[in-house]
Amino acid sequence: MEISIIGTGYVGLVTGTCFAEVGHQVTCVDCDAAKIELLRSGGIPIYEPGLKELVEKNAAEGRLRFTTSTREGVDASDIIFIAVPTPPLPDGSVDLSFIEGVARDIASAMTGYKIVVDKSTVPVKTGEKVAETIQRYCKARVEFDVVSNPEFLREGFAVEDFMHPDRVVIGVASQRPVKAMQEVFGPYNAPIIVTDIHSAELIKHAANSFLALKISYINAISVVCEATGANVQEVANGIGMDARIGRRFLDAGLGFGGSCFPKDLSAFIKISEQLGYDFRLLREVQRINTEQMERFLKKMADTLWVLKEKKIGVLGLAFKQNTDDVRSSPAIELCQRLLKEGAVLRVYDPKAMEKAKAVLKEATFVADMNAVPDGCDALVVATEWPEFKKLDLERARNVMTHPILFDGRNLFDGREMERHGWIYKSVGR
Ligand code: UDX
Repeated sequence: MEISIIGTGYVGLVTGTCFAEVGHQVTCVDCDAAKIELLRSGGIPIYEPGLKELVEKNAAEGRLRFTTSTREGVDASDIIFIAVPTPPLPDGSVDLSFIEGVARDIASAMTGYKIVVDKSTVPVKTGEKVAETIQRYCKARVEFDVVSNPEFLREGFAVEDFMHPDRVVIGVASQRPVKAMQEVFGPYNAPIIVTDIHSAELIKHAANSFLALKISYINAISVVCEATGANVQEVANGIGMDARIGRRFLDAGLGFGGSCFPKDLSAFIKISEQLGYDFRLLREVQRINTEQMERFLKKMADTLWVLKEKKIGVLGLAFKQNTDDVRSSPAIELCQRLLKEGAVLRVYDPKAMEKAKAVLKEATFVADMNAVPDGCDALVVATEWPEFKKLDLERARNVMTHPILFDGRNLFDGREMERHGWIYKSVGR
C-alpha cells in the first residue's frame, strides 16, 4: 500500500520504516530539513536497536523515501499517518497545535479520498477535532475518513514491538476505512481490534496509566517490605505468577520516567478533570513515584550523613536500559538533586552520555564503567542496564574510599555484596 507519515520523529520513523519492511511504499515527511537531509544521506537522528539497518535497507530498495513537503506525501498516498509530538503544557494538558497544523496542511493538499490516521498520543475526542479541521480547511471538498491508531512502542524495543505487536487498535467512525487499515497491518499477524474512535483514543491513555500504576503499586509494596524485612522481588515473583497479575512491570526502583508515562499520566488526569472526574487513583500513582525518589535520596543521606563534597559514582543516566533518551529520566533527576546538595559526581551510561552532557554540566563524564568508582565515597545504580552487573567489584572496592553501593534498580545480590564487604542498600529488600 502507499502510505505517508507526517512527522519523522521517534514514532514516525519507526512506523514508516516498519511499514516499508513489510512491503508498503512509504513517504516520510518532516518539516525539519536538516533531519530529512540526514536521513537521505543514510544517517539516523535517534538510537534504536535495529532501526538504522532497516532504514538503509528499505531506502536502498526504494520503499522508503524522505521529504519536507506534506503535499508530496499527501499526493503519494491514500493513507496518511500523523505522528507529530503532543508535548505537555505547563498545566499538564496536551499541546495539540502540531496536530492541528498538520491536519490543516493535509486538508489543503488533498485532492481525492484519503484516510487520515492519528498515531500521536492524543486526548479522547481529538479525532473529532481533526475531522472538523480537515473539513474546514479542505478547499477541494473531497471525501476523507479519520482513524485513530495508537502506538504502544517501547523505546529500545520499538522495531521489535512494531513488527510483533500484542495487538493493533483501529478506531473508526464508519466501515469505509477498515479494509484498507486491515491491509496495512495484515502482514504483522497480530490481533486487530476495530472499535470506535473515542475508545481507541482512550485505550492508549488507559494502558499507559495502568502500567504506571503497576510500577507505583510495587514501589508502594517496597516501602512495606523495607519496614518489615521482606523482599520486594520475592513478593513480585509470588504475585506475578498469578496469570491475572503477571510479573512484568513489577520491578521496584527509583520510579518510572521517560517521555511517555509522566506525560501521559498528567494528561489523562487533566482530561478526566475536564470531563468532570477527579482521577484520584492516578494522582496517587504520581505521588508514589515522586516519593520513591525522595526515599532513595534520604537513604543515601542517612548512610553518607553529609552529601556536600562527597564523591559519588553514578551508573546509568538514561531513563531506562537500551536507550540514549534522558528525557524525564529518574537517573538525571537523582544526579541533579545530588549536585544541588554539593556532591561531586562521576557519571557513566553505555548510550546516554552525549545527551546527558547537555543537562548535567557539573558532572565528570567517565568513558569506562570500571573507572567510575575511582576515589568515590559511594556508587549508585540509577538505570537498569544489565551490563552494570559486570562491574569489576573487586577493583571498585580497592579504589573507593569505602565500598558503599546504592542500588536504585535492584540489580545486585545483596547477600553476595555484603559477603564481599560492601555496604549495600537497594529498594524494598
Ligand atoms: C512506555 C510504554 O511501555 C509504551 O507502551 C508506550 O508506547 C510508551 O511508554 P517507554 O517509555 O519506552 O514505553 O518505557 P517503559 O519500558 O515502559 O519504561 C518506563 C519507565 O518505567 C522507565 O523509567 C522504567 O525504568 C520504569 N519501570 C518499568 C520500572 O520502574 N519498573 C518496571 O517494572 C518497569
